[in-house]
Amino acid sequence: MLRLLVLVSGGGTNLQAIIDGIESGIIEDTRIVKVISNKKDAYALERAKKAGIDTGVISRKDYDTKEAFEDALLRGASEVKPDLIVLAGFLVVLPEALVENFENRIINIHPSLIPSFCGKGFYGLKVHEEALKRGVKLTGATVHFVDKGCDSGPIILQKAVEVLESDTPEILQKRVMEQAEWKIMPEAINLIAKGKISVNDGHVSVVGG
Ligand code: GRF
Repeated sequence: MLRLLVLVSGGGTNLQAIIDGIESGIIEDTRIVKVISNKKDAYALERAKKAGIDTGVISRKDYDTKEAFEDALLRGASEVKPDLIVLAGFLVVLPEALVENFENRIINIHPSLIPSFCGKGFYGLKVHEEALKRGVKLTGATVHFVDKGCDSGPIILQKAVEVLESDTPEILQKRVMEQAEWKIMPEAINLIAKGKISVNDGHVSVVGG
């Protein structure tokens, strides 16, 4: 049984896709042991509670220094003894120690086809605004392992999504979520749960796939 810790900051639609995926059997042998948010009022926490999942809040506001906050995050995450940490819209740069302690055991979803429209400052609507500005015909989403860089870890899965001429950043964001994010996130977790993912030299191979 893969023990999942999900870190969130916002609406939690990706968290919902994971909850639904476990319930429907798209994700096998997996249990969400805890959902931790850095925002007290994140709707993602409600989704977790509704599904009967243990929740916690670790907010920067409750700590005097960045170090104390990062320490709390590291302790909060380690306590749960997760096999895998999932960043599902978690808008905090992870403490280095957390990344080191959980090498190739933290995954993130990014709403573009990495290496396009990623890196520092590329989050939320900004990603889609830039894609529209550049006039790309295809965008998409990427699930990747988290390393010490920004959106630079080994790529697990990607899915392309068409860009339409009439798109606004909001419309494109929604299509990327529906057609890509909510599909490849559960798929990636299932592959990891089944032990089908290996990482060599920064490259992911899917065993038997
Ligand atoms: C998604 O667009 C995801 O790609 C990004 O943050 C957003 C989170 O949305 N990393 P939600 O909280 O899962 O609804």
